[in-house]
Amino acid sequence: MKAIILCAGRGTRLRPLTFTSAKQLIPVANKPVILYSIEKIHKAGITDIAMIVNPDNMKDFQEVLGDGHDFGVHLSYIVQKEPKGLAHAVSLTEEFIDGDDFLMYLGDNLIQEDLSKFVYDFRKAHADASILLTPVEEPTRFGIAIMEGEKVTQVVEKPKIPPSNLAIIGVYMFSSKIFEGVKNIKPSWRGELEITDAIQYLIDNNGNVQGHVVYGWWKDTGRPTDLLEANRRVLSEIKTSQVLTQLNDGNYKIEGPVVIEKGVTISNTLIRGPVIIGKGASIINSYVGPYTSIGPNVTIENSEVENSIFMENSTIRDVDVRIDASIVGKNAMISSIKIKPRVHNLVVGDYSTIRLS
Ligand code: TTP
Repeated sequence: MKAIILCAGRGTRLRPLTFTSAKQLIPVANKPVILYSIEKIHKAGITDIAMIVNPDNMKDFQEVLGDGHDFGVHLSYIVQKEPKGLAHAVSLTEEFIDGDDFLMYLGDNLIQEDLSKFVYDFRKAHADASILLTPVEEPTRFGIAIMEGEKVTQVVEKPKIPPSNLAIIGVYMFSSKIFEGVKNIKPSWRGELEITDAIQYLIDNNGNVQGHVVYGWWKDTGRPTDLLEANRRVLSEIKTSQVLTQLNDGNYKIEGPVVIEKGVTISNTLIRGPVIIGKGASIINSYVGPYTSIGPNVTIENSEVENSIFMENSTIRDVDVRIDASIVGKNAMISSIKIKPRVHNLVVGDYSTIRLS
């Protein structure tokens, strides 16, 4: 059994963050999204994994993940030159899969569910494909599966009149028969080879396609609001505090669960968890509210922040309005200037979003 993780998209909805980093490498609770998937796959007993990357982001993945040794897996890298669809990505992996069964994971997805049972059930059923499904409130926004018993009888992309509320989430199991499917489909109206079409091909050709319904939370981290929600979900799983820094200055207060890494300075500050604070961060005369991830070497001074992600080496200084529901990239700086008349003095990268109160 092998696995492939798809990370070759453009990530346009997460610009400008995706100009300098693949979206799967953006940290949620101070850990790149991709590591959550690798851990899930590893836990399901699969260690031979191919990363599907694009020519621009391959080096970034290799720098963070290497050959996977640190994470107990073996990683290969396969380049998809252009994001021509999920089924196109699958078509590039035939040599790597080499006749085996495999799990396919969309690299920007976070799911709570353990995947072991999903893998076990697929094997037991000797299925050609199995799709992870979950009930959703707005089925018109998703790929939807219709089931009879355990079997999927039809898959439809974003139906106007949904025949069921079971949405296809980003994890699939396939036998090598899927390669026949991806070879026999045509690009959709959006010009992509759709994995739903390849699955429908299997169904139409007497393939055994199973549905596996799960009820835990899952998140596709494609948009900034999704990343913040994923951050809240992961942080809310911190149940007990872990403080690895000797906090000397008595002038601080910590409420609720927190993870504080080594070398952190906290002074004259209220921290209200769940919050994670990375190595070497410095938080002075400030308030850090729930659901905040503060990356390594971040400085927060004379400011109030909550429900946000601050990536490594970013600085927030003297900001007199609370920063909420925000994502601040690496090495970014937000500060105020104390001159009259009050002005905004900005250097804003392409595709940035700034909302001022
Ligand atoms: P999407 O989120 O649908 O696409 P994207 O990553 O290009 O982002 P955006 O829509 O904001 O431009 O992709 C879902 C996952 O599948 C993501 O991890 C990237 C991956 N993917 C590929 O690896 N190859 C592809 O051809 C496509 C379309 C997606």
